[in-house]
Amino acid sequence: MIPELSNPSVCMRDPQRVQEILQSMQKAGSNTLQVISDFDMTLTRFAYNGKRCPTCHNILDNSKLISNDCKEQLKELLNTYYPIEIDSTRSVEEKLPLMVEWWTKAHELLVQEKIKKDMLEVAVRESEAMLREGYQLFFNHLYEHSIPLLIFSAGIGDILEEVIRQAGVFHSNVKVFSNYMDFDETGLLKAFKGELIHIYNKREGALLNTGHFQELRTRPNVLLMGDSLGDLNMADGVQDMENILKIGYLNDKVEERKQSYLDSYDIVLVEDETLEVPNAVLLYLT
Ligand code: C5P
Ligand code: MG
Repeated sequence: MIPELSNPSVCMRDPQRVQEILQSMQKAGSNTLQVISDFDMTLTRFAYNGKRCPTCHNILDNSKLISNDCKEQLKELLNTYYPIEIDSTRSVEEKLPLMVEWWTKAHELLVQEKIKKDMLEVAVRESEAMLREGYQLFFNHLYEHSIPLLIFSAGIGDILEEVIRQAGVFHSNVKVFSNYMDFDETGLLKAFKGELIHIYNKREGALLNTGHFQELRTRPNVLLMGDSLGDLNMADGVQDMENILKIGYLNDKVEERKQSYLDSYDIVLVEDETLEVPNAVLLYLT
């Protein structure tokens, strides 16, 4: 049906079920569709030429806006907590408080750095952040078909907006739920706004934004894209959902995590740095 679903990176527990969901969504039409996607390591690349690409946090951590001392401390946090994030032997219950600890400590460190709002643009420009191959088609196609795209990220909203702005794809159909920086009247970072979004509370984040999903209630068909099992909850606020197709990027610790990804995502993309499959799905649905 969609030739790209035979790509070597594609794994599906139940291809027949995927086909049924796709057919049902196609029949309903693109005016019933909404897309909900994670940002870091889903819309952005995990690696390029064998080297890890930065998350929103890493863009800042590695930038010249941060002192060397703070860089060291942020790196230590990354080395401590990232292995926990991707550890398939620990339960979500066990990981959740540790993830809150990671985000909280990192944000506290960042706030001490007197980061200037107008320097974020430079930090992003000088970073190695990269959207996945095929991003132009992905963003432009959704825009041209007036399909709403919600980017739901536990990263930093100000940074991710800048990444898509500099890539020329921050169109009017894009809405972002994320952690936003709060600047004082002189433009210095003083805190992060609102409730913290980390990888395991996207359900709560979704339920705080009922207004958004209320506006989209005529779009009960959802394409969800993520790279963490916590991303599966991003659509929990969708009203009267009819169909959901979940595409999951499995970037790291492939063998240990494959079964759990196959059990929860309809389509699993193993070490696939492109948006080829989501794009093919979108072209089929529109
Ligand atoms: O956009 P997304 O929800 O994927 O953003 C979360 C990602 O940010 C996590 O996968 C985590 O590895 C990363 N992170 C980071 N530095 C932090 C906190 C989170 O790189 N201080
Ligand atoms: Mg992610």
